[in-house]
Amino acid sequence: TVYTPPILKWHPPICAPLRQRENAQSEKINPKTNNHHARKESSTMKITKITVGCDHAAYELKKKVVAHLEERGIEVIDVGTHSADSCDYPNFAHAVCKNVQDGVTELGILICGTGIGMSMCANKHKGIRAGLCGDVFSAEMTRKHNDANVLCMGARVISFELACELTDIFLNTPALDEERHRRRVKMIEDLEKGGFTPETAK
Ligand code: RB5
Repeated sequence: TVYTPPILKWHPPICAPLRQRENAQSEKINPKTNNHHARKESSTMKITKITVGCDHAAYELKKKVVAHLEERGIEVIDVGTHSADSCDYPNFAHAVCKNVQDGVTELGILICGTGIGMSMCANKHKGIRAGLCGDVFSAEMTRKHNDANVLCMGARVISFELACELTDIFLNTPALDEERHRRRVKMIEDLEKGGFTPETAK
């Protein structure tokens, strides 16, 4: 039997007031005051190019997402997979993350059956902040609060329509230029470097 993913358009109850507050905060973004080079750019740049990868479980969805991006004038570097034949998702996670690490594209998209394997692999890469999203609220917040540079999605979890919606949100939402979010993202970087001292140990 073929599993048909539900069309999820779920918004948590706190979404509306939070959205109003976030919109108000977004207006305060001042690109000149952000002192972190990479994040300064991600707060201000318009995305014109993106790297996309998937495994066999997401091959059909990736084709649709790529077409959706190209229709919007976005250049897509498609690192595969290029067929529905069984393959290993870490290869494609690595190819997308490498492009983001090397600055070939600022952002990447990874799709597998659940998005879980891709997000696990992606988050093993230095400098990669991959957010697995299955709802619009998370797609917005993973850019605004986590400054995610890779969006992961599950082709067996969400519909094509929702995947395109999450993609659009991911590309069009800048990271918030606010000290508390920059501080927390910096803590993620410290965790990566092994130089992280939790508050509780201070
Ligand atoms: C492939 O069957 C599946 O395991 C893969 O697409 C993904 O869901 C792994 O996390």
